[in-house]
Amino acid sequence: MSPSNLRQRYEAAGQAHLLKFWDADALSEAEQKSLADQLEALDIERVNRIYKKAVTAEAEAAAPGAHDPIQPLPKDASDSVKSGKDAEWRAIGLEAISNGAVAVLLMAGGQGTRLGSSAPKGCYDIGLPSHKSLFQYQAERIARLQTVAEQEFKKPAGSVIIPWYIMTSGPTRGPTTEFFAKNSYFGLNPKNVILFEQGTLPCLTMEGKVLLDTKSHVAVAPDGNGGVYAATRAPLSPADKSHTVLSDLAKRKVLYVHAYGVDNCLVRVADPVFLGYGIQKQCDCAAKVVPKSDPTESVGVIARRGEKFSVIEYSEISKEQAERRDPETGELSFRAGNIVNHFYTTTCLNKVEAFEEELAFHIARKKIPHVDLETGEAVKPAKPNGMKLEMFVFDVFPFTEHFAVLEVMRNEEFSPLKNAPGTGSDDPETSRRDLLAQHKRFLERAGAIVKDGVEIEISPLVSYAGEGLQSVKGKTFTKSGVVGELEELDALV
Ligand code: UD1
Repeated sequence: MSPSNLRQRYEAAGQAHLLKFWDADALSEAEQKSLADQLEALDIERVNRIYKKAVTAEAEAAAPGAHDPIQPLPKDASDSVKSGKDAEWRAIGLEAISNGAVAVLLMAGGQGTRLGSSAPKGCYDIGLPSHKSLFQYQAERIARLQTVAEQEFKKPAGSVIIPWYIMTSGPTRGPTTEFFAKNSYFGLNPKNVILFEQGTLPCLTMEGKVLLDTKSHVAVAPDGNGGVYAATRAPLSPADKSHTVLSDLAKRKVLYVHAYGVDNCLVRVADPVFLGYGIQKQCDCAAKVVPKSDPTESVGVIARRGEKFSVIEYSEISKEQAERRDPETGELSFRAGNIVNHFYTTTCLNKVEAFEEELAFHIARKKIPHVDLETGEAVKPAKPNGMKLEMFVFDVFPFTEHFAVLEVMRNEEFSPLKNAPGTGSDDPETSRRDLLAQHKRFLERAGAIVKDGVEIEISPLVSYAGEGLQSVKGKTFTKSGVVGELEELDALV
């Protein structure tokens, strides 16, 4: 595209200010080229459409008298792992894993701003005795589950594979790739660990004008975890345009996908119980929930909109909705806390493209560093000056055909890492505490006694969810330690 065509396009879109420094002869030739490349690649008309739709949707929701037909999830609209069916579901899920029909999809494009670390969250060391990162825990759970499926379904060692698709973003891609390479993919075969990148969107002023972060560069931000659907259709490398996450899933004959967020140290990656639940219920999509702890907890809640399921995010729920309680039980009415654990059939993932344009983006008002158009100076705002537009991964729920909700136990499956050390909730200390408490329960359930104050960390390579620990029955553990192999437990008695 010639510079004049580019200008015409941006003028028509009301975004010609992006060429201001070019016009003022403030850019070198290389800077002009780099800006032109970026502007050419940007679908500015789509950005304008997304902005309009997001502000309209937000205004409609906030309008006085706006009728939101959203209702709490009726009690009978979800199932529970405490229903006594978990062993049956586990067997179904594990069989699917043993047949190579399962993959996992990790959303790891978030920047962990609240945690205060610039590294990807998955690299974070929550202070466990082993100092393993969240990524390592997840990798080792996958490895262990492959082995369990091989053993229980009498498959040759090394024959069961759970491919792991990891979505990164501009800011997390490089460091995530390096971290995996440096740690030899935590023992997994790199062929089965597929990193890909979500898209970005320009940052906007409150009036919808695109911001520049330097005189020759548009400020961009990841497009939210809902960007995962478009990212699964994008080429994995420029060399082969037809090779995408979706095509890779098809080639591997994967039927079911467990998608999850990176920041939960208790996550049961490729959880056979959840997979078996989704398969038995013949859903195309499902979500795990835990009871929301209090009205202010930062979790979205799954609710009903007519016959459909949808999530009200914690940033968008009204105080009245958040505080509403069931008059009979006193429990929160909107209490089905979303823990970012989703089940999809691959058929469902393939269908998202057909309705994706209907999904509205959400507005996050942020402090966005930018270049002042008048002075050309870099500005670091002290209060929110603009907006980032994000898609939420759960916004597809109302569009799915058969959706189901599984309630799981918080102490076994949810301890998110959101806040900086020392915050007192959802921080590295609470993650560490909850994981070690679970390992203690694993031993106690297997019939051991663990003395007060003793901390035993059991590698996921030894036990995925408490299985395989029969040998500890009747033993009393008196010493703390890290257990990488089953036999090492004996030294702690
Ligand atoms: C998320 C959920 C919320 C849930 C809570 C539980 C969404 C939109 N919100 O909120 O309903 O109750 O977790 O802990 O899912 N991510 C990307 N790309 C992005 C942004 C995020 O991959 O552009 C990933 C993050 O790396 C993380 C996950 O999505 O793994 C959740 O994102 P985060 O921003 O931490 O969500 P919360 O606001 O905590």
